[in-house]
Amino acid sequence: MAEKENKMDKIVSLCKRRGFIFQGSDIYGGLAGIFDYGPLGVELRHNIKQYFWQKFITEREDVYGMGAAILMPEKVWEASGHIGTVGLVDPLVECKICHERIRADQSEVIADHEKTHKKEKVEWTDPIKFNVMVGTKLGASEKTATQVYLRGEITQGVHVNFKNILDSMHPKIPFGIGQIGKAFRNEITPRDFLFRLREFEQMELQYYIKPDEAEGKKQYEYWKQFAFDWYIGLGFKKENLRLRQHAPDERAHYAKDAWDIEYNTPFAGWKEAWGIHHRADWDLRRHSEYSGIDLSYYDEETKERFTPWDIECSGGVDRAFLFILLEAYSEDRLGGEARTYLKLAPKLAPVKVAVFPLLKNKPHLVEKAREIYQKLKKEFGAVEFDDNGNIGKRYRRQDEIGTPFCITIDFDTIEKPARAGGDQTVTVRNRDTGKQERVSESDLVSYFKDKF
Ligand code: GAP
Repeated sequence: MAEKENKMDKIVSLCKRRGFIFQGSDIYGGLAGIFDYGPLGVELRHNIKQYFWQKFITEREDVYGMGAAILMPEKVWEASGHIGTVGLVDPLVECKICHERIRADQSEVIADHEKTHKKEKVEWTDPIKFNVMVGTKLGASEKTATQVYLRGEITQGVHVNFKNILDSMHPKIPFGIGQIGKAFRNEITPRDFLFRLREFEQMELQYYIKPDEAEGKKQYEYWKQFAFDWYIGLGFKKENLRLRQHAPDERAHYAKDAWDIEYNTPFAGWKEAWGIHHRADWDLRRHSEYSGIDLSYYDEETKERFTPWDIECSGGVDRAFLFILLEAYSEDRLGGEARTYLKLAPKLAPVKVAVFPLLKNKPHLVEKAREIYQKLKKEFGAVEFDDNGNIGKRYRRQDEIGTPFCITIDFDTIEKPARAGGDQTVTVRNRDTGKQERVSESDLVSYFKDKF
């Protein structure tokens, strides 16, 4: 276990050192449960979201994308059931010695806290329900300022736009609306790096179907598998992921059925990565009641009017980011030397290709390397140039951030044209195997074309 816990520490340190993740407001002592993404982190996060958008939205004919606002009035959250003591609430207990407040359902956190009081016997208050919605006021005048909430789930922005999408896009049921964006929860005990945050990003699909048990079952099974396959596509080993059904007392207030995709983490075993929820007509029905606006759907084919059911796929971007790093983090010996590398799927890697001149002080090598770098950068974007230190060190630096390919321009590139036409070759080195092959300069773009 110690070795496994160690992996998390190593990842946290790598993330800071190499510009993936920084503690939020670091120079002011940090803010618990809040993290900032650095230059490499923001690229990896973008690539995760891009893959979601591609598979859940743009590749499909039956799903629309949208981007709703973060701030929403109190009434939205009353309707959705998130404020009050039913919805987004966690059980909270307080230590009677030091008054620290902790989630009552996290035995590990409780045990850790009790250890801090050494020999004193810790007593806890009875659990109370703590609502984790983050509220604020909008408006300059005390009297007229309105209570609003930063969304606790991105879902409600979709449901409140259901009629707008019907009226503007005229979709035929079944259809979905997908979205990516920030959500906020005043988590009692943010912990485990990016796992439990107070500000985080979600990627979600709300899929509207006919209110029918057989249809609900069919669509639910389909989306469970679709979400699971998508997760595998991020580069996970199948044995490290599983689908688990919630027990009835575990389900969110809106869910008729709920399954999680879980990842086998080194820090706490199986933990939730995604939720797939059968929300039935909970949201549309409640928003119809609370807003007074009819959110039903008229089926032209069957001439029926009904309130659709919703099957939801909801995943955390930051949690996927953390699990991807845990899965990708590797240590081995290559050519007799110890190294750390991130075995990231090439489509997720923040840098796709790094280009090196063998020597920094040979202008003809540098010039050629820069020419190839510019060409590939124009084509693939995330390409780096590096002429600092010896080649071995440059490989290690790229391995550590998960760059799948490195290209070296050496004397042979310049002096030994591979073909009669004078074409030149470079070495392309594979991150995982360390194997190198010579590729003609003119073939480089097509060599990389389908790899990212
Ligand atoms: N719309 C449904 C919904 O929000 P959820 O299970 O509460 O369902 C969905 O959240 C996903 O959002 C989770 O599977 C997780 O990946 C992510 N998530 C939830 N709370 C989080 C937190 N405090 N920090 C990071 N990610 C979180």
